[in-house]
This record gives sequence, C-alpha cells and structure tokens, in this order.
Amino acid sequence: MLDLTPARDSLDPIEIASRDEIATLQLDRLRWSLRHAYDNVAHYKASFDAAGVHPDDIRSLADLARVPFTSKQDLRANYPFGMFAVPRQQVARIHASSGTTGQPTVVGYTAADLDIWGQVVARSLRAAGLKPGDLLHNAYGYGLFTGGLGIHLGADALGLTTVPVSGGMTPRQVRLIEDFRPDGITVTPSYALSVLDEYAAQGVDPRDSSLKVGIFGAEPWTNAMRSEIEAAFDMHAVDIYGLSEVMGPGVANECVETKDGLHIWEDHFYPEVIDPQTGEVLPDGELGELVFTSLTKEAFPIIRYRTRDLTRLLPGTARSMRRMEKVTGRSDDMIILRGVNVFPSQIEEQLMSVTGLAPHFQIELSRPDRMDVMRVLCEAAAGHETPQARKAASSDLAHRIKASIGVSVTVDVADPGGVARSQGKAVRLIDLRGKG
Ligand code: DLL
Repeated sequence: MLDLTPARDSLDPIEIASRDEIATLQLDRLRWSLRHAYDNVAHYKASFDAAGVHPDDIRSLADLARVPFTSKQDLRANYPFGMFAVPRQQVARIHASSGTTGQPTVVGYTAADLDIWGQVVARSLRAAGLKPGDLLHNAYGYGLFTGGLGIHLGADALGLTTVPVSGGMTPRQVRLIEDFRPDGITVTPSYALSVLDEYAAQGVDPRDSSLKVGIFGAEPWTNAMRSEIEAAFDMHAVDIYGLSEVMGPGVANECVETKDGLHIWEDHFYPEVIDPQTGEVLPDGELGELVFTSLTKEAFPIIRYRTRDLTRLLPGTARSMRRMEKVTGRSDDMIILRGVNVFPSQIEEQLMSVTGLAPHFQIELSRPDRMDVMRVLCEAAAGHETPQARKAASSDLAHRIKASIGVSVTVDVADPGGVARSQGKAVRLIDLRGKG
C-alpha cells in the first residue's frame, strides 16, 4: 500500500498546536456555546435553571460536569425545530436521523455551520490520505442522512473531484469505480462488502482497482474487518466517526499513518466519557459512554449529548487532539444473553477468524422457552459450500464464541449470498423475543 501521510504543512495549525493552546480555545468557545444555548433554546434554559447552574458559573473545562446532560428524548420532545437557537429563516440546511423507533431527530445548520462542517470533513479526508485534486467515489447515502452530503461538503472544501454516487445500484458502483478510477471511496463498511461481492460476481479483481484508501464509518466495524477490506482491495482502510446530533460525519477521524483510533476534532466538539450508570465523568483511558458538547455550532448547539457510544479517550499521537478508541458498540446494541453482555462487534471479530465463512452476519434473538436464545446467521465463503465445510465452520464459530465471550449460541451457515445485504448501515440484530 502507498504511503499517504499528508505533508505537515498541509494540516490546520490547531491540529498540531500545544495542549495548552487547544484548552484555551476550548474554554473560550465552551463559554460562548453554553451562553448561546441558554439564551436561545428554551429547553436549555429550563434544564440549566432546574440544575441551578448558569453559563457564567462555568470557569474551567472541568466545570462542565455541573451542566445537565441532553438525551435523544430531549430532542424528540422538541420535534421538529424546538432545539434550534436561531430563527428558522437562518437555517440553511436540515438533516434528520430516522432512528429505529419513534420520532426522527431533526438537526439544522446555518451557513456558517455548514462551512465549519466542510472544514472538519476536509480535515478528516486529509487525515485519511486524500489531497486536493484526488477523485472521491462517495457511496454514503444522500438525503436526510448526513453521510452523503456531509462528506460532499468536505470533499468540496478539500478540493477533491467528487462523484456523488450515493448508496445502492451495486453493479453501477463497480462500473463507476472501474471507469472513473477514484483515489478514495467513502462508504459504510457493510456496504463495502456488498460492493466486494459485486466485484466477484463481475469477475473483476478489486486489488487491481485504482482505490488507495477507503474511509469507513456510520456503524461499528472491527480491526479484523479492516484487515479483510485492506487485503481485498489492496488499499488503506480508515475509520470516520460522527453523528447527526453533533454534526454528521467528521467529528473524529483516524490518521492513515497511524490507524490507532480516531482523533476528535476537539476545537469544535468537546468530548467527555462518563459512567453510563452514574453519569460521573471518567478519567481519560477509561471505558464509558461518549458525551459531546458543540463549541461553535450556531443553529443547533448541543450540550453534553449522551451518544450511547462506548469508547475511551486516549492522548494524541499523529495530531495533538485526543483520540477515541474505535467504537465497539452502543449501550443500546448490547445484548444481555442469560446474564452475559454481548456486542455484535464481538461476534464479528470471532467470525472473521473462521476459515470458510464470508464476512456477513446477523444475530437473531428469540425466547422459545422463556430462555433467550441467540442464533448467528452467517454464510459460506465461495469455495466452502459443501455440507462438511459448513458444519466445520459452524462448530468452529460456536466454539470461538463460547471460549471468548462465554455464551452458547447456534450458528447457521447459509449459501453464499444467504445473509441480507446492506446498502447503508447494516442491520445486525433481529429481535424476535416477545413476538410469539
Ligand atoms: O452515521 C454520521 C456518519 C456518516 C458517520 C458517515 C460516519 C460516516 P447518524 O446516522 O446520526 O450519523 O448515526 C450516528 O452511528 O452514534 C454511532 O453509534 C454510529 N457510528 C457512526 N460512525 C461510527 C463509527 C452518522 N466510525 C451513530 N464507528 C453514532 C462506530 C459509528 N459507530
């Protein structure tokens, strides 16, 4: 793989500033952001007042711990525009995340917010190894989802040539990659696997493609999956993180030269990790729930938002800004199977180490006799379809899951193509409990 390390002088100065400079900027911006939210959003005024805290009381970054959290429920209760801090006429763009249940969450951006979003995504794409003039195949969905249009803004800001393909029409994805010869691809990791299948179906070798780097996010994926994708395409695979409530893609990104977790663009998004049970702020290095406070957003300031994503904060390496460890799961994706906590990413990690299985899977939970039962649906890799090969792969995976996670599961190995494919975010869990 090519060395794609960006030139040091192409970085924003703040990316390599001292920790003191970063902290000074953060405190300044934090105080502005808290006051902006308090003065312009009724929900924040009410929640601060109820907690007996005023923005002017916050004199250090640590004081932020006194400010109440914001949850998804708060955003839903203020559907659609109740959390906006500027008149609707000043909102240049609206996005929404569908969510699996209930109201969608609606977010808004002023023109200045869109400009900053473009800057942080440009920073992310550059960290991934892209440079002005490169060609980008953007296969994140365009629409209310922030993936497609968010990446697009950053690609424009960095000076890339963007192909706004969006998700779906997989045969066309392969044809456009072959014909346009992009340097980079932005796509969910699960949809990248669907694109890989299509390469096989067309009899084209993905290792011969022009792609040098893929920038994967919007859902959890493991380092085992990284190795698989890097080998299959002969390109770098780096992680991009973000969420609509905080901005969209580009809140944090891995650097291609280190691939050691995602640098959080801390000059715009202030991170904390808390104990999800007590709400107490944890020291850097400890695993907990990620919480974000926006420092510069105008239309939709977000204060101490509980993401439900589980990770830990780590010191900077390739950049001065702190890193977050790869997100291994969300607290609401956690399955408690007969008392044992199981995340879909742990299943992925084990599955990737079994010969004869393709990297696609779903988890089905049912409750036949008042006991929860987990079935892992996966599929045979091409060339491993015989009944004997499947039986071996199935018992190998069941053993590995038992040994590493401590739960007994049933593993069913379908024909190649037997597991539902993703066109965006993968659906990992089918919960049939309580459904007869
Ligand atoms: O998924 C934004 C995005 C688009 C990020 C494209 C990266 C690339 P939402 O639809 O609001 O926004 O979903 C946000 O997705 O809280 C995480 O649970 C999950 N997620 C996003 N990126 C990652 C990642 C976009 N790199 C939710 N690793 C977040 C693990 C991720 N989970």
